[in-house]
Amino acid sequence: MPPLDDPRAIPRFRRALLRWYGANARDLPWRRTGDPYPILVSEVLLQQTRVEQALGYYTRFLAAFPNFAALAQAPEEDVLRIWAGAGYYRRARNLHRLAQAVAAEGLPHSYAELLGLPGVGSYTAAAVASIAFGEPVALVDGNVRRVLSRLWAEPEPSPRGLRERAEALLFPKDPGRWNQALMELGSLVCTPKRPNCPACPVARFCAGQEAPERYPAPRKRSQRTVSAAALVLRGPQGYLLERREGTALGGLWGFPLVEGEGALPALLARYGLPSAQPLGTVTHAFTHKRLTVRVYTAPWNGSGEDPRRRPLSALDRKILALVPGEG
Ligand code: ADE
Repeated sequence: MPPLDDPRAIPRFRRALLRWYGANARDLPWRRTGDPYPILVSEVLLQQTRVEQALGYYTRFLAAFPNFAALAQAPEEDVLRIWAGAGYYRRARNLHRLAQAVAAEGLPHSYAELLGLPGVGSYTAAAVASIAFGEPVALVDGNVRRVLSRLWAEPEPSPRGLRERAEALLFPKDPGRWNQALMELGSLVCTPKRPNCPACPVARFCAGQEAPERYPAPRKRSQRTVSAAALVLRGPQGYLLERREGTALGGLWGFPLVEGEGALPALLARYGLPSAQPLGTVTHAFTHKRLTVRVYTAPWNGSGEDPRRRPLSALDRKILALVPGEG
């Protein structure tokens, strides 16, 4: 029987994890504040981005938009420019809309009401409600899922089962600290590969220790590989850039790019060019596809613009870096 199925183990589990967290928690800027704004920004960033990488974006974002009002007033393009490179731009667009809602109506404090804000799902609502407002709600992110899956030796835990387990473990007197401690354990000790079980403060409660890497089982995800062509046209004042549409990169700017068969002829026809020279190839992984982009350039005498003044996606920065002198 998994040790945590015995309810008497739960208080001991909590004590062991919180003691470990007290001694090992990373000193992160969003942990030094009770202000819900930076807490919310950090949680939105951390959803798809590792802590080390998120730190830089967090600092830049807060310097540019120090509170809900400043973010609400900023043009969307400025918000995207600061976010550019962090990926998952829909998060930035939603955060911007959220700030506008908060500027008009104030920030709600409860989990249930936070869920009604743009872009806020159960993870973000639970993180903000527990960390900023002390509401006893459990959360399950990728780290918590892995930790719970191992504690109970369940390779394919259901979302509902995970929520129930997380709720049973939650330390209701300090839910924000508790939720962060579980996530911290997942980032520092109970890692996806080569977890450090000998250093784990709750190893004695863990049913998955014999073979931790079996839990959780890898998710099947099909990632298509798609080929594309992009065109770098440089004039006296800069490059030809266009504003992208669609959910993945919509609102960002980049080089003309066409996916699929016949991509290069389509680009040449669009700009009336007889031919183009290869500059190189870049690859970029999105959630559901991998793009392999052949990049071309051709003589051009349009005026163009400075790419540093536009929100460029990480993909377009890779393309730009192929240009001699820009890398
Ligand atoms: N992952 C997402 N939010 C986190 C937090 N507040 N602490 C640790 N890991 C996290």
